[in-house]
Amino acid sequence: MKETFKPGTMIYPVPAALISCGKLDEDMNVFTASWVGTICTNPPMCYVSIRPERHSHGIIKSHGEFVINLTNENIAKATDWCGVKSGREFNKFKEMKLTPRKTSVIDSVYIEESPLSIECKVEQIIPLGSHDMFIARVVNVLAEKDYIDPATGTFHLDWAKLIAYNHGHYYKLGEEIGKFGWSVEKKRKNK
Ligand SMILES: Cc1cc2nc3c(=O)[nH]c(=O)nc-3n(C[C@H](O)[C@H](O)[C@H](O)COP(=O)(O)O)c2cc1C
Repeated sequence: MKETFKPGTMIYPVPAALISCGKLDEDMNVFTASWVGTICTNPPMCYVSIRPERHSHGIIKSHGEFVINLTNENIAKATDWCGVKSGREFNKFKEMKLTPRKTSVIDSVYIEESPLSIECKVEQIIPLGSHDMFIARVVNVLAEKDYIDPATGTFHLDWAKLIAYNHGHYYKLGEEIGKFGWSVEKKRKNK
């Protein structure tokens, strides 16, 4: 039996990503976003929805670039802090000991401590109401070398201790229960 709730966005879990923006040592900033995700594989496209009152909104709008940095257990506290404090008042990189590094393709910053940083170029801004949706093309991905298996060259995001955000709370990821397509895989015959 289900109870009726008023309409709201209740899609969980979602990421709690750190969005970095601006230019190194100039107007760089970082904030936390959960309204962030993939919208197309080819070409690779992402979105982030940002309230116009955020300090980062103006920075991203003026440069047309930002970076989606995935977050893990090591930077969980910084992830929350960057989501409750504004770059108008703090240098959040300094306060949270996050290291800003110059990106490779766009002229912005990524976070050294993040396991994976996705460089994005804004293609469209759609005002939706409380949030503006920034639709962006992925132009480069920077992956932490510690999670690349030296023997095979495979990138292991499963080693990165990623975190998720579920209805106001942060969580570690649990045990793996399957992989893509496992529900239709044929069982191997016993030898
Ligand atoms: C878990 C979490 C998720 C958030 N998701 C969003 C989001 O998707 N969009 C947004 O505009 N603000 C979001 N916020 C709020 C901003 O991160 C917060 O207002 C931040 O202080 C803005 O920083 P800035 O003023 O330096 O840009 C989120 C905050 C938290 C803690």
